[in-house]
Amino acid sequence: MPLTYSTYLKLDELLALQQPLSDGPEHDETLFIVIHQVYELWFKQILHELDHLKVLLSRHDTERANATFKRILTILKVVVAQIDVLETMTPLEFLSFRERLAQGSGFQSRQFRELEFVLGAKNPKALDRYDVGSPARARLERRLAEPTLWDAFLRFLDAQDHDVPDAQLERDVTQPIAEAPELHPLLIRLYKTDPVVRALCERLVDLDEGIQEWRYRHVKMVQRTIGGKMGTGGSAGAAYLMQTINKPLFPDLWSIRTEL
Ligand code: HEM
Repeated sequence: MPLTYSTYLKLDELLALQQPLSDGPEHDETLFIVIHQVYELWFKQILHELDHLKVLLSRHDTERANATFKRILTILKVVVAQIDVLETMTPLEFLSFRERLAQGSGFQSRQFRELEFVLGAKNPKALDRYDVGSPARARLERRLAEPTLWDAFLRFLDAQDHDVPDAQLERDVTQPIAEAPELHPLLIRLYKTDPVVRALCERLVDLDEGIQEWRYRHVKMVQRTIGGKMGTGGSAGAAYLMQTINKPLFPDLWSIRTEL
């Protein structure tokens, strides 16, 4: 069999994966499934690019690191814009099949937690949602133990003979990134004098802002679709999600702006 568009992309398999559960089925359930599947594919691609980005930083290949940043940020814009599509679904349309989701929720997205871990929002409690010994848990455990993008950036600076405090280079990478004022003098100096490092800092802030933007748009979508109801994942819903917004991934890069 010669290779074709369809066999290469495994389209028969891919297009068989959208299987609504509601009776009828309800018209909007197809959109709900497609959009979540598309998100998971983009999450997969972003993780692939973030892993590559860390390697590029370790090789001091700043030109390709910037190109990879640009790709990730462009995907993030698409991912945020996709919320507009789901917001065409009214609360009543969502309610027509919501009970079929049972406890299923984006809360359980393993790839989203991986993304958070790579970006430094580490939280060992997130592992509790996955069975001990399951492949999903094993992946998250690996991600938890892995240096974050921020650690890769600090090691890149250190390898360029900049004086990164040892405590930061040797920090416990299973912990979330916390603000480190002892880093500020170095970051401020480099920000003012080194255009390459400054550009990398700006891309990290773009990434941080992009993730916060997604969280904000997601919680607004949740508020307009289910109001104050609890989430299918068992949380307080929008009230829980509100606590996750406005938490910067790279706090030092925001703080130094006040000191510049
Ligand atoms: C009608 C559309 C949607 C509604 C009503 C909704 C609702 C919620 C709610 C209430 C939560 C809190 C956890 C819970 O108790 O379930 C949540 C979390 C989450 N949702 Fe959605 N969601 C929607 C669409 C999406 C889409 C399209 C994605 C894309 C993957 C997504 C990804 C997530 C993620 C990753 C979380 C965890 C966030 C965190 O813990 O910080 N959601 N969602």
